[in-house]
Amino acid sequence: MRNPFRQTLGSLNENFVGRDYEINAIKKLIQGLSRDNLDPKALICYGPQGYGKTTLLGYVAKHSDRFCKELVLDSPIKTVRATPDVCDIASLYEIITGESALVEEITQDKTDAGVNVGIAKFGSEGALTRVYDSSVKNYLELFKTVSAKNPILLCIDEAHTMSSDQMRRMLLSIQGCTERDIPVSVVLAGTPKLQPLIRSCGATFAERYKRMTIGPLDNRYARALLVEPFEKQGMNLPEARVKEALDNCHNYPFFLQAYGHSIWEHCIEQGTLIERDSMWQRAKDEFNETKNRMYGERYGEFRKEQVLYSAYVIAEIFKINEVPSHVYLADYLREKGVPDPDEAIEKLDELGYIWNPEKPWAYEQGIPSLMDFVGNTFEQELSQSQPRSKD
Ligand SMILES: Nc1ncnc2c1ncn2[C@@H]1O[C@H](COP(=O)(O)OP(=O)(O)OP(=O)(O)O)[C@@H](O)[C@H]1O
Ligand SMILES: [Mg+2]
Repeated sequence: MRNPFRQTLGSLNENFVGRDYEINAIKKLIQGLSRDNLDPKALICYGPQGYGKTTLLGYVAKHSDRFCKELVLDSPIKTVRATPDVCDIASLYEIITGESALVEEITQDKTDAGVNVGIAKFGSEGALTRVYDSSVKNYLELFKTVSAKNPILLCIDEAHTMSSDQMRRMLLSIQGCTERDIPVSVVLAGTPKLQPLIRSCGATFAERYKRMTIGPLDNRYARALLVEPFEKQGMNLPEARVKEALDNCHNYPFFLQAYGHSIWEHCIEQGTLIERDSMWQRAKDEFNETKNRMYGERYGEFRKEQVLYSAYVIAEIFKINEVPSHVYLADYLREKGVPDPDEAIEKLDELGYIWNPEKPWAYEQGIPSLMDFVGNTFEQELSQSQPRSKD
């Protein structure tokens, strides 16, 4: 019996749950690609790591034909997934059409006027000139060309890693699609860093695009994620175990998958769920190991980005205030000796430690209970760095 739970980030799994609101928002975007109802635009979705952005895009790509049927579209759309590293014109053309935009490769750098060229150095062989289809010079022309057959829903994951210039060109071309009735809409998904990136790239009209946050699952879906894969095999998790697992997972999909995975590995014998404490303890230990490994990586990242002390102070603040405002955080950090609190807050927001899913000024915890880990580990570190007495 194959373990149905997936710990790998972004992996598509059979036990996808919830996200009704987000799926509906994407369905509306799809509906706006119908020729008699054309309204191409962008949808911006963001959330801290591990909440399921990649998984959601994978689910949408897999089910977009079904969505088109449900929406009774005049012509089926083509859903394409990409990441910023393949968002140059030639690669994107290839991903969308399945054909190469490369017309010719020549070794001398003589090229006709009016064609797109790319030059790559090839060791001792000298310069290699790549000649691309001349009709595709920018995103707008690319979108016009590739959508001639079918409307396109382009889903760009990790969009927060785009350069400011690339993001600006992408947003401008989406606006161009709206103005010229070119049936291409784009979902931009990434961590909360996506917001400041869009703000800073100077495409002010992008503020009008719909934004949605990808946060914790609803209670019933968190429970379903954990319980249903067992039920499908005729196994019922004891309620006390379910409660314990849910209390530890905070409706965070990455933890739920990891906990389910460990239970499946350690508590099933010959297709039967065994109620023995030692086995459940092993599952719990393995889950805690996975969780602490992830926390350890984040902790190292905070140190590298020089915001570890700020992260520690913020963990202290959240013990007394669960939704502190930006001003509250900044004042507290300044009082505790952080020289540039605004910069620290911004960086910790970008790193998924804190974020503001509801109100733009009110912060909430990003990755669940990471603050407890940061608080405890930092204090442990401090106690070890203090000089020992001689006796
Ligand atoms: N709706 C869901 N149903 C079931 N499992 C989910 C769901 N969303 C996410 N998961 C699981 O949670 C884990 C994290 O998901 P994913 O990698 O998509 O997060 P992410 O937001 O893209 O993270 P990152 O910002 O690090 O790329 C994966 O193991 C995935 O299978
Ligand atoms: Mg992802």
